[in-house]
Amino acid sequence: MAMRDLVNENICRLKPYVPGKPIEEVKREFGITCSIVKMASNENPLGPSPKALAAMKEALEQVALYPDGKCFTLTQELARFWGCTEDELLIGNGSDEIIHNLGVTFLSPGDEIIQGDPSFSQYETSATLCNSGCVMVPLKNFTFDLDAMADAITDKTRMIYVTNPNNPTGTMVTKQDVERFMARLPERVIVVFDEAYYEYVENPDYPNTYDYVKAGANVIILRTFSKAYGLAGLRIGYAIGKAELIECLNQVRQPFCVNSVAQAGALASLRDPDQVSRSRRVNSEGKQYLYQEFDKMRLPYAPTEANFIFLDIKTDCRPVFTEMLKRGVIIRTGDIFGYPNFIRVTIGTAEENARFIETLKEVLK
Ligand SMILES: Cc1ncc(COP(=O)(O)O)c(C=O)c1O
Repeated sequence: MAMRDLVNENICRLKPYVPGKPIEEVKREFGITCSIVKMASNENPLGPSPKALAAMKEALEQVALYPDGKCFTLTQELARFWGCTEDELLIGNGSDEIIHNLGVTFLSPGDEIIQGDPSFSQYETSATLCNSGCVMVPLKNFTFDLDAMADAITDKTRMIYVTNPNNPTGTMVTKQDVERFMARLPERVIVVFDEAYYEYVENPDYPNTYDYVKAGANVIILRTFSKAYGLAGLRIGYAIGKAELIECLNQVRQPFCVNSVAQAGALASLRDPDQVSRSRRVNSEGKQYLYQEFDKMRLPYAPTEANFIFLDIKTDCRPVFTEMLKRGVIIRTGDIFGYPNFIRVTIGTAEENARFIETLKEVLK
């Protein structure tokens, strides 16, 4: 009997996730002994808050016990932090888990989601698992085309993902764009604003999407501790949304989806305002440096509001990627997003950015 006959047919339709290459794998594959910089997965080069590290060490003493399944204290503090109510909050094992559960909770076979193209791959995965379709609306000028996304709504549309800033392009839709879009939305459609890179945004026209939750719209906002808070390895993210939607998501989640060390780390880093301000500053300085270098090299890029830049290297990205790996610099290729002449690079520390530029120049020569 073929394996395909045993497996749920939705699983057979899944496209495998392509992660950034881990440092250890590059060391193994290329026998590299020099230091390796990973600028491939939009992680925080500064790491977590020292206060979070201390809290996590303390939390290790308690790992024989199950975690608080409701994340009571963290939920309470997040509600205070954002000025929302506790029943508008859901904490998950990374926003990845919440995206998975959004599909399980709200999609039935034959439904459709709408997303931008290219954008984050997990929306489609979650829809495919639920035997639902995924309508891809091409970006315009590397940016979500919300007018075209509203045009794409049909009776089958159940959920729309607005990734703001978008991954892999780093671009953002404005308050005015979102206002126009929301005005066209049928009530039965849930809008998910994925704001994983929220803390890095500098543009004052960024929308306050919680206003839509307050106004009673079917809106869910996704945020994460993986980026500006530097806790990607712990897997902790959260949703803020209409209480009735959050209640449904709560029924679907695993009882202990967020481990106790992650809860302690997230809580302590939320209480440390320096973590986000330092990360924003270093990111902003790194962005300006990289922009200047790209301009000098005459390489076009999409304007970013996140901690990564989508860059046109004007040549096939695959050999460039491999040559950079051999020199200990890990980046992400654009071909997986449909842009074979692009790379996506995470903004690093000043030292990492300089090493990346030096290596890119050497490889492109
Ligand atoms: C747009 C977007 N959403 C969600 C995620 C997943 O974040 P988390 O680490 O919270 O699962 C990522 C991770 O790269 C992302 O880029």
